[in-house]
Amino acid sequence: MISSTGIPDVQQNMIHAPGGLFITVEGADGTGKTTHAGLLADRLRKEGRDTILTREPGGGGAVASALRELLLHGDDMADRTELLLFFAARSEHVAHVIRPAINSGSIVVCDRYTDSTLAYQGYGLNIPLEMIYRLHEIATGDLWPDLTILLDLDPAESADRLHDHNRMEGRGMEFQHRVRNGFLSLAETAADRYVIVPSSGPMEEVHAAVWDAVRARLPLQQTGCAGS
Ligand code: TYD
Repeated sequence: MISSTGIPDVQQNMIHAPGGLFITVEGADGTGKTTHAGLLADRLRKEGRDTILTREPGGGGAVASALRELLLHGDDMADRTELLLFFAARSEHVAHVIRPAINSGSIVVCDRYTDSTLAYQGYGLNIPLEMIYRLHEIATGDLWPDLTILLDLDPAESADRLHDHNRMEGRGMEFQHRVRNGFLSLAETAADRYVIVPSSGPMEEVHAAVWDAVRARLPLQQTGCAGS
């Protein structure tokens, strides 16, 4: 998407090993993302797929965990500090977890990734999207998901599920609306990898819609035809 910045080889995009797939689950706070990422990973394992379930911020080891604590429960910080810390955590995550997994043929299901930064720090905090795309390239070697499931819910409905447990959730309804609309704009811009799943229905219905979207994109299994 953006010209190369001389990133070391280890961070550059590589073709996934056979079977490897990178799936992200996104959405504003209280949309049921974490539940559905977990159900999806369970389903993939039941289908015999080698799957890892991970999340942001925090997936990727001790440094990323420490950054999660700072970001979600630390003192207030400048918006750009927050942005850089999300990318520092992501760089650890991509280097130590995501890239090794997809390059060894696993399916990675990740609860939030760069689209969250675009939605929260970009649309939510008004940091220019161009700056976020540049940092993404530096931190991840421009690794984008193969498929992004966007769980969409009116913030008025998701508010019941929120209890201001972290700094982001305490930013109020107007912020949550900007985040939700940001995700919907991103889904339009990157329509080839996004699937929007309304998440107001019963859990089984939402899971079925998520599974339909994923099944359609599964790589062939060596033993036969995948995803049926
Ligand atoms: P978390 O407790 O993991 O909740 P959730 O289940 O909603 O993911 O909190 C993560 C919070 O961090 C969430 O409010 C979204 C926010 N966030 C950003 O603002 N930018 C980002 O890049 C990421 C990954 C998360």
